[in-house]
Amino acid sequence: MSLQEKLSGYQSRVETALDNWLPSTDTEPKILHEAMRYAVVGGGKRIRPVLVYATGEAFGVDPAALDAPAVAVELIHAYSLIHDDLPAMDNDDLRRGKPTCHKAFDEATAILAGDAIQALSFFVLAADTNSAVAPGVRINMITNLANNSGAPGMAGGQAIDLAAVGQKLTLIELENMHNRKTGALIRSSVELGALSSPDISRSELDTISTYAQNIGLAFQVRDDILDIESDTSTLGKPQGSDVERGKPTYPELLGLNAAKKVAEELHEKAINALNQLDRDTKTLKDIADYIVGRKN
Ligand code: IPE
Ligand code: IPE
Ligand code: MG
Ligand code: MG
Ligand code: MG
Repeated sequence: MSLQEKLSGYQSRVETALDNWLPSTDTEPKILHEAMRYAVVGGGKRIRPVLVYATGEAFGVDPAALDAPAVAVELIHAYSLIHDDLPAMDNDDLRRGKPTCHKAFDEATAILAGDAIQALSFFVLAADTNSAVAPGVRINMITNLANNSGAPGMAGGQAIDLAAVGQKLTLIELENMHNRKTGALIRSSVELGALSSPDISRSELDTISTYAQNIGLAFQVRDDILDIESDTSTLGKPQGSDVERGKPTYPELLGLNAAKKVAEELHEKAINALNQLDRDTKTLKDIADYIVGRKN
């Protein structure tokens, strides 16, 4: 099966699961539920759920047991985008080809939609009835997502990002910021897929985490590159936003060619990690290729 066919299958699967978990717009407060659905349903590449499904599949997990973690990581991501676009943060008006949540609704509704989506993410992991793992493993999954999305991970990375506007970061500082604001949730997506497997070994978990770490950083390096090289209609978000806001990025620090080289090196490390596994990792390899070559 081609990567495109795999992606479509995973994307439609998570779309259905997201729709099932999100609150109905027939119930009150309708405006909050509408804003939640506006920001989550029918948009984005769904790369984090795709990683949950593809990793789970490589370790023999039934897709039904992966729906909840797939939904959980996409919900965290969707909430992070709502807040990232707010005037107090990146102040962007376009997301996934349509007005950002605070433009389509208002700022207070967008903030609350983000809050509620984040809480729903943890609810889904805790309340899922299709999981095949022991309760202790489920707690590990919840802990993993909490750490990777909270202050030690994504929220911490976003704080560093805001403090870094107009500053010159060292490469080490930039790498730390990217690892946290974007890498952490991607790592968590892979790890939740892996933890869903009843028969994964400690060493396999370490190896798949190395893959995750490298594609997670590569994903944000590519995002930085696309901010320069792509265009607004392809991206579905404003091209040039980083430069306009004085954000430290890989191309800004190293130049475009060296930034591309970093992405290639990270890709190679990710593939080397997969090569150590005695599992069918073809889709995970294809996803690594996709992450460094993607156009949006
Ligand atoms: C955008 O993420 C924000 C970053 C972490 C770079 P994606 O590029 O995954 O956005 P969607 O979900 O496809 O819209
Ligand atoms: C996104 O970084 C990180 C999170 C949303 C956590 P960016 O600010 O670069 O993402 P885009 O470019 O707006 O999608
Ligand atoms: Mg940002
Ligand atoms: Mg942004
Ligand atoms: Mg960006």
